[in-house]
Amino acid sequence: MVDLDEQAIAILQKNDRGGFTIPTARLYPFQWNWDSAFIALGLATMDDDRAWRELEMLVEGQAHDGMIPSIIFRHDDDDYFPGPNVWQTNNGPLDGTGISQPPVLASVVAHFAKTQGETGLKRAKALYPQILQWHRWWHTYRTPEEAEVVCTVHPWETGRDNCPDWNIGLRNMATDPDSESYQRKDIEHADPAERPTQEEYDKYISIVKFGRDHGWNQHVLTNQGPFLMADPGIFFILLRADRDLLWLAEQFGFEESAREIESWITQAESAADSFWNEEYGAFCAWDVRTKEFSHGFSNASALCFYADVGTTQQREKTLAHMRRIAGRTQFGQSSWDPDAPSFESQHYWCGPLWCQMNYMIAKGLSEQGEGQLAEKMRHDLKQVIELSGFYECFDPISGAGCIGRDFSWTAALWLAWASPSLTQTSPA
Ligand code: DGY
Repeated sequence: MVDLDEQAIAILQKNDRGGFTIPTARLYPFQWNWDSAFIALGLATMDDDRAWRELEMLVEGQAHDGMIPSIIFRHDDDDYFPGPNVWQTNNGPLDGTGISQPPVLASVVAHFAKTQGETGLKRAKALYPQILQWHRWWHTYRTPEEAEVVCTVHPWETGRDNCPDWNIGLRNMATDPDSESYQRKDIEHADPAERPTQEEYDKYISIVKFGRDHGWNQHVLTNQGPFLMADPGIFFILLRADRDLLWLAEQFGFEESAREIESWITQAESAADSFWNEEYGAFCAWDVRTKEFSHGFSNASALCFYADVGTTQQREKTLAHMRRIAGRTQFGQSSWDPDAPSFESQHYWCGPLWCQMNYMIAKGLSEQGEGQLAEKMRHDLKQVIELSGFYECFDPISGAGCIGRDFSWTAALWLAWASPSLTQTSPA
């Protein structure tokens, strides 16, 4: 068998663009926000300095209002649509998108600060002000008064692009009739059946047009934009990241910002129940304007352990869904509920297993006393990679690889979590 550790290292080297790493050639040819955070975990198994460089280059793309964009464009590339000329953000030192992505960064920085001694703490301290500014951005610009929890304005911002969770918000918005015609590039590099539909893309681009037409004023985009949903994924990841940022603030003796972060945590803890869909018995996405709940168990629903929220009963119900789903699939936690009619095992966020979500879910489970289930998730990821290689995501029933090949976060999480050559297997 070809050594998978060596293959993973070769993928990260191949996707290195000089201090930052693209997710995969052609399909995603720039630096992506949460990808880089997970990639840094893998890089740190080989070279701490290079791992920090990945994160520092991500933060270089921070916009003036504090947002760290979902994509940093250091150049244009004909392989990708929509590129910098479509977004036209003009709101920071580098070109980027006008939306963000799940804020995993603080959690990875805190992990390095805990495990790399003085050097790790020093580099974490240097990044702290900008990470704080980014979290402040989520708590102000993306928290509409009517919701009291962090929300999202675009399915791309959630990272779970075409998850059926977003159908409610997309159905309630119109496609902008003045949108210019465009040519998708993603379906030239991947099987169109595994990518979002044309109708979804038209809506995605309409939201981009709204943001651009309003000069990327993020208050306007959140409060008046075409799409506004509350995502348990962003909510749980941000709450976890706030807890990790608070730990950093305490290490550095930053008392004033520690109080500010504590207030975000208290507020989020008291608002977590707004995601609880009593009828369905799970934490679910909901539309802010219509208050309609999504009815389906996504992999974001399982992140309540990672955020350390939920009553005993809510956690038990969550675990019951996970056991039910495990009985219907073979590998890991699927991105959507296999009992839902909209489940498709190879269609991007409508079913496949995603390694970074499984990593976070397992980390939460192992911290909250569910070590056996966490270990099964690690083992399942190991198995699908052995079976199919380093794909973007995997069919949770057959284990077949889907969409992008030689994928950086899959290689990184192999090195940092799933590889049998690791001595410590609980998630970093
Ligand atoms: C894409 O282009 O599919 C990305 O997910 C957007 O971030």
